[in-house]
Amino acid sequence: MTAAEADYIFTNNWFDAHKAAWSQLLNQLNPGRILEVGSYEGKSTSYLIDTIASRKSVEIHCIDSWEGGIEHKTGGSAATDMTEVEARFHHNIKTARCRASHEATITIHKGLSSTQLPKLLAESKQGYFDFVYIDGSHQAPDVLLDAILGFELLRTQGIIVFDDYLWQEPLPGGTDRSMSQDSH
Ligand SMILES: C[S@@+](CC[C@H](N)C(=O)[O-])C[C@H]1O[C@@H](n2cnc3c(N)ncnc32)[C@H](O)[C@@H]1O
Repeated sequence: MTAAEADYIFTNNWFDAHKAAWSQLLNQLNPGRILEVGSYEGKSTSYLIDTIASRKSVEIHCIDSWEGGIEHKTGGSAATDMTEVEARFHHNIKTARCRASHEATITIHKGLSSTQLPKLLAESKQGYFDFVYIDGSHQAPDVLLDAILGFELLRTQGIIVFDDYLWQEPLPGGTDRSMSQDSH
């Protein structure tokens, strides 16, 4: 952990493996308007603030129900306390914004992506975002909807990134997947 990371409160390191690839991508794209679906405790959001707001202003829209996905409710580990997760998100975002040399405007859309993404479209944000990050629900129909609506909100030649695209988890009712391979 670097000194700059010391005030953050994170309980996971899922995002750390992506930092090298994201650093290259963000240098290349230099996005000013970002949409994130799935913020959890703010690790990816605070990375975006640390990286971009060190050189220019950035606007980030975060969509999360803070109810957790199926992987937070099932799968063997104890259910995650999402109220605490949400509190850590606010703490971590505040920490990142305080440190940033440029303004980071964060708009939080609390709710399911299936209701929040259409709201953004209804607010005429078609083609508004330079960068869209999809890391919300890991269930195939939800990911498909996030992909379609996220693509509508993305500008021409913007970039859309998916996390856990090949994610799957064996559950009592069958294997749950991000990308559907089942026929019904
Ligand atoms: C894997 S975590 C996001 C991790 C975060 N991007 C990071 O790198 O630290 C997934 C998040 O998506 C949220 N989520 C799951 N399904 C959702 C849905 N249908 N709509 C909105 N948020 C959802 C969960 O509450 C959880 O906070």
